[in-house]
Amino acid sequence: MSAMILDGQSLAATIQAEIAAEVAEFTHRTAVVPCLAAVLVGENPASEVYVRNKRRACERVGMRSVLERLPADTTQGELLRLVRRLNDDASVHGILVQLPLPAQIEPSAILPAVAPSKDVDAFHPENVGLLVQGRPRFLPCTPQGVLEILKRNNLTVAGRHVVILGRSDIVGKPLANMLVQRGVDATVTLCHSRTKDLASLARQADILVAAIGQPRFVKADMVRPGTVVIDVGINRLADGSLVGDVDFEAVKEVASHITPVPRGVGPLTIAMLLQNTLAAATQGTVNGQTT
Ligand code: GUN
Repeated sequence: MSAMILDGQSLAATIQAEIAAEVAEFTHRTAVVPCLAAVLVGENPASEVYVRNKRRACERVGMRSVLERLPADTTQGELLRLVRRLNDDASVHGILVQLPLPAQIEPSAILPAVAPSKDVDAFHPENVGLLVQGRPRFLPCTPQGVLEILKRNNLTVAGRHVVILGRSDIVGKPLANMLVQRGVDATVTLCHSRTKDLASLARQADILVAAIGQPRFVKADMVRPGTVVIDVGINRLADGSLVGDVDFEAVKEVASHITPVPRGVGPLTIAMLLQNTLAAATQGTVNGQTT
């Protein structure tokens, strides 16, 4: 039997409608319009699309968005100056520096420069630390999107074995951390490129999360019948088509539930970014004053 398709697009639309109502109430009460500043350095075509989608989503829920564009040859110092200006700008509540950055700029020099209270990606070391300790200021967007898609489809996580393929700082590592927190209560196996016998570990999963950035890496023989399969990958093929890290057509015949690409986890990531931007505006506003 074919898997149930977990439709991220329609779930994201539902969540965005909820956020829009909260934004309207917040703005009515405080006269403050939440604002996300996106920083785009260079002309990476995928980043252009992501940033455009994030900005459109902001506007759809009644938030302001500003785009700061810098040329590909921007120096680390120039980018740091821009980040500091945005930190000091009281009308900006969330700051997002789109990754990847050009080779001359070290992300590790930039991400810690974003004010932790405006770090809606949750990439700042202070926010990563708070997350690990189970008292997050912001929830990282893609991992929270994965948890949200499971929760809103009534798919139990507590006590389940979640196997994550990929140990990135953006998805694999924070997701593993969130899943083992008290109250979430999953058991996690975090796999990576040096993992021995990855396929046999993948087959032990109740929930399999693919976040490795390799097109159609997960084949049907890596998935035990009845597994929930979450595909975080977005890979553009030479013919221009978008595919995930999962061989969707084959795996959907084995899995119980599966997210498609596109219209799976991606739209949830954006919805979670909006949620964080509203949270940043709320945390940073007391009696209509920016703090
Ligand atoms: N590049 C790929 N994913 C992300 C993300 O979640 N945030 C930012 N800032 N850049 C990214």
